[in-house]
Amino acid sequence: MPDPAIEIESLEVVRGGNQVVRSISLAIEAGTITGLLGPSGCGKTTLMRSIVGAQITAAGRVKVLGREAGSRELRPLVGYVTQAPSVYGDLTVQENLEYFGRVVGAPGARATETIGTVGLSDYTDRLVASLSGGERARVSLASALLNRPRILILDEPTVGLDPVLRAELWRDFRELADGGVTLLVSSHVMDEAGECDDLLLMREGRLLRQCAPDELRRETGQQDLGRAFLKVIEMAGRS
Ligand SMILES: Nc1ncnc2c1ncn2[C@@H]1O[C@H](COP(=O)(O)OP(=O)(O)OP(=O)(O)O)[C@@H](O)[C@H]1O
Ligand SMILES: [Mg+2]
Repeated sequence: MPDPAIEIESLEVVRGGNQVVRSISLAIEAGTITGLLGPSGCGKTTLMRSIVGAQITAAGRVKVLGREAGSRELRPLVGYVTQAPSVYGDLTVQENLEYFGRVVGAPGARATETIGTVGLSDYTDRLVASLSGGERARVSLASALLNRPRILILDEPTVGLDPVLRAELWRDFRELADGGVTLLVSSHVMDEAGECDDLLLMREGRLLRQCAPDELRRETGQQDLGRAFLKVIEMAGRS
């Protein structure tokens, strides 16, 4: 892989006295979408926090665009959308993006431009509290796009969305990847795994497998990615 966008070596994380990330090593290629999958509590958010430099780690190295995770130069290059909505309900879409734009030092016109990118131009003056869950998810996504990051870390961005909205968001993700952005997207929903170029399958703090969806299907003999994942868990249990 030519200079991976994200490179992790033997990462260990301890939270509340428990080891929640166990010796994870991986590399993520630039301009791709990687799905981070695994049951609740397996360490997806913790791994993402380690990549954005918001997590104290116990051992190992995390490099993003060749630099130490969390380093100052990376700040404008990495966008992070957390699992909990981080936009303000009592501000309009435009006001939210202007506010976050000022925080990250984006040029003034960027708010309007970014609202267009996520297809919310008809909603600029609506209070975020009055938006549907899916529309609000797009405002969160827009806020992470304001400084045109090269790396985008999205923690369960499609949770609670209907299939139509999910499909629209995945189209947005693909467009961003085609433009060279590297996306890491966590999800519980295995049918979304098929939209990714590469998959990280986690369980109990460990990375069970990193591979493309088709490779996973071939290897397990399961067409359905949900079943394929279960098969990987079963095989890991045996070895
Ligand atoms: N602040 C904390 N203190 C102690 N333990 C924590 C803390 N935050 C998370 N954990 C534990 O770390 C483990 C991994 O949590 P994490 O949030 O990374 O999981 P996750 O895969 O993102 O789960 P979900 O799919 O539910 O979001 C869990 O066992 C969780 O209980
Ligand atoms: Mg999580």
